[in-house]
Amino acid sequence: MDVCNSVDRQKLRRRLLRWYDRNRRDLPWRRNPRNAYHQWLAEIMLQQTQVATVVPYFRRFIKRFPTVRRLADAPLDDVLRLWAGLGYYARARNLHKCARIVAREHGGRFPNTVEGLSALPGIGRYTAGAIASIAFNRRAPILDGNVKRVLSRLFQIESDIRRNETADHLWTLAEAILPRKRCGDFNQSLMELGATLCLPRNPNCPDCPVSGICSAHAAGVVDELPRAGRRPAPKEVQVVVAAVRRNGKFLIRRRKADSLWGGMWELPSIQMNGHKSRKAALVELLSALPSVLPTDSAFDSQTPARPCGRITRRLTHRIMRMSVYLLPSPASSHPLRRCEDFKWIRPTEFDRFAFSTAQRKIIDIVLAKTNEKHERNDDD
Ligand code: ADE
Repeated sequence: MDVCNSVDRQKLRRRLLRWYDRNRRDLPWRRNPRNAYHQWLAEIMLQQTQVATVVPYFRRFIKRFPTVRRLADAPLDDVLRLWAGLGYYARARNLHKCARIVAREHGGRFPNTVEGLSALPGIGRYTAGAIASIAFNRRAPILDGNVKRVLSRLFQIESDIRRNETADHLWTLAEAILPRKRCGDFNQSLMELGATLCLPRNPNCPDCPVSGICSAHAAGVVDELPRAGRRPAPKEVQVVVAAVRRNGKFLIRRRKADSLWGGMWELPSIQMNGHKSRKAALVELLSALPSVLPTDSAFDSQTPARPCGRITRRLTHRIMRMSVYLLPSPASSHPLRRCEDFKWIRPTEFDRFAFSTAQRKIIDIVLAKTNEKHERNDDD
């Protein structure tokens, strides 16, 4: 049986491609569609992130690292620093790892098949399909959140979009509707339709080039699709942050690679997990810092009872409630020796390190409380 049922594939392809040719947005990665490095970089940045947010980051990356070899040669810290603010930092670590593999094992050229691309870190089925179709014109399907919505409406798929079986069915459809030529443009037309007209709420059906062949439109159920079961409520976690200050400098540390915000720098923090109080969590945190603070009576008497600030950060699966304590480090604490993951830095040096958006907010609070000037250099 034809998987596309009543939808006329030829009409769908013709209408979408014509609409895309006339209406596509001028995005920087679309200027060099055959440049696999540009397509790869854009696709990694666009995972879970809006186009408008990605554009300036993409431009900065291409300017600083014009080729995959230049990216591979850069220290990870430079990449993380340029990535800071885009979120989902595992992407930046995989980006760098992937660049090194492409530069060193593939002679600086990306593999031109879905299989070859999928073997690289950070490249899943969707990203491999996007790069293979756009940069190498391979007949490879794509399916991300936007395309799922478009297809579930076009084909009136009523099953729960979060179920694996539904995704499998949508992948089959995404492949079945691909034309033989211009696969990259066709895939981008699906993304573009999802991003500009076939929106989650208030879809613009009057301007849609395929509303005449859309099953959900004919049935009057566009607003009800895609159907999705409830997402579990995000977990709330309490985090205690220590702003340890000595002689006008602050202690920062690098987060463990396999943690949330891994590889980024932070004012040391600890997630509360069975601690009786924030202070108990703080004591545990401080005892893990090398030669910084004694956890003795001096510490007890100097620790403020209250945090100097709090922020809430909402992530997809977690709500982080972060409380920051400003602590003087006693003069008796030892200097850091050969400790690559810890540094004492001046307030003016914060911009030299990659911090998450949550940590940036905390640093702003701390510097305001301590009256430290902190010039943010947003272009670098
Ligand atoms: N979203 C994901 N990939 C995209 C691309 N290449 N262009 C526009 N939006 C996208």
